Amino acid sequence: MKILVTGGTGYIGSHTVVELQQKGYQVVVIDNLSNSNEAVLDNISKITGIRPDFECFDLIERERTLDFFSRNSDITGVIHFAAFKAVGESVAEPLKYYRNNLVSLMNILEGMQLNKVPFLVFSSSCTVYGQPEELPVSETSPIQKAFSPYGNTKQISEEIIGDFLETSDVKCIALRYFNPIGAHESSLIGELPLGIPNNLVPFITQTAIGLRSQLKVFGNDYNTPDGTPIRDYIHVVDLAKAHVIAIERMTNGNNKKALEVFNLGTGNGQTVLEVIKSFEKVSGEKLNYVIVERRAGDVEKVWADTRFANAELGWKAAMSLDEMTLSAWNWEKAIANK
Ligand code: NAD
Ligand code: UFG
Repeated sequence: MKILVTGGTGYIGSHTVVELQQKGYQVVVIDNLSNSNEAVLDNISKITGIRPDFECFDLIERERTLDFFSRNSDITGVIHFAAFKAVGESVAEPLKYYRNNLVSLMNILEGMQLNKVPFLVFSSSCTVYGQPEELPVSETSPIQKAFSPYGNTKQISEEIIGDFLETSDVKCIALRYFNPIGAHESSLIGELPLGIPNNLVPFITQTAIGLRSQLKVFGNDYNTPDGTPIRDYIHVVDLAKAHVIAIERMTNGNNKKALEVFNLGTGNGQTVLEVIKSFEKVSGEKLNYVIVERRAGDVEKVWADTRFANAELGWKAAMSLDEMTLSAWNWEKAIANK
């Protein structure tokens, strides 16, 4: 079975390509390398023995995208990761985010429709819940006004898909990720943030390796046990495996609605200081950090109710916080040694 993975040289996409190949799927990747590089394909092939087919172009180019689908009519499913994801940048450059994330999605949907590609897995985010009133947050919790244009692209994307499915035979599973961290156990693929990382774990590992002088912890006056915000951190390989299960669910005809939505988290919330403590424990490094003001736009606490995903997908995140921070550290050391 042939699966198109858009954004397949990116962080979550590359780990998903590995899981798909290891389950016997043939994979073709489209990526414009705007936030990744082609060497990732070589590293995937070092893990799996297979270099995925690759086409480098921008999915906002409608003709190129439709041409791709017409040349690849044997595709069974699409896993659509390709998007811009930096929250702060989306505030500064909203049109860049709306154009990239929404136009590429519409081109993909059109290509699927024209070429009768039946199954789509879409990368959504727990950002659609904002600060939930009840925790853990379940898939039926209300969608809140988006905190950023990036978050809004995920909300609008889910709506576009919902409307599109009313008029089409395509089936879709939208996966709302909580906070993916960590790297593949081989340390051959992982997260490669360009420039200064926005996210906590890459900032921790880059500080420990000496690329950054100090981690800033954004606020310790939240209503949480140690005052720092709570997130549901999930290992990227656990997340990747859920995509394969989502494809299997649809190809086996087990999906119950045209559009199904699942939370992908562990169900546990951890504070920023707990993540730092875990990192210090597994790495043996003392982290240089300082508490500073809150970061604008951060929610206080969010973690997933995973019961629906656990029951319906037969999937459960397996890796502990220590395994996540250790794999992130091993990856940081591996790239530093290159
Ligand atoms: P990433 O930036 O590592 O990967 C995205 C890939 O898509 C990159 O390789 C980039 O070059 C490519 N891309 C972007 N726009 C493209 C376009 N127009 N045409 C072709 N290729 C394009 O990001 P990631 O962390 O792997 O995220 C994957 C998906 O998951 C995104 O949709 C993101 O919004 C979503 N998501 C990520 C997180 C997270 O914390 N990492 C959380 C929730 C949701
Ligand atoms: N944090 C720090 N210092 C840093 C970076 C982060 O203290 O240098 C804190 C943040 O304040 C937050 C926690 O670490 O409390 C996690 O922050 P991240 O930036 O790693 O993750 P977010 O929860 O803010 O956002 C992530 C993705 C978004 C996505 C969201 C929900 O970056 O794209 O998860 O899926 F929308």
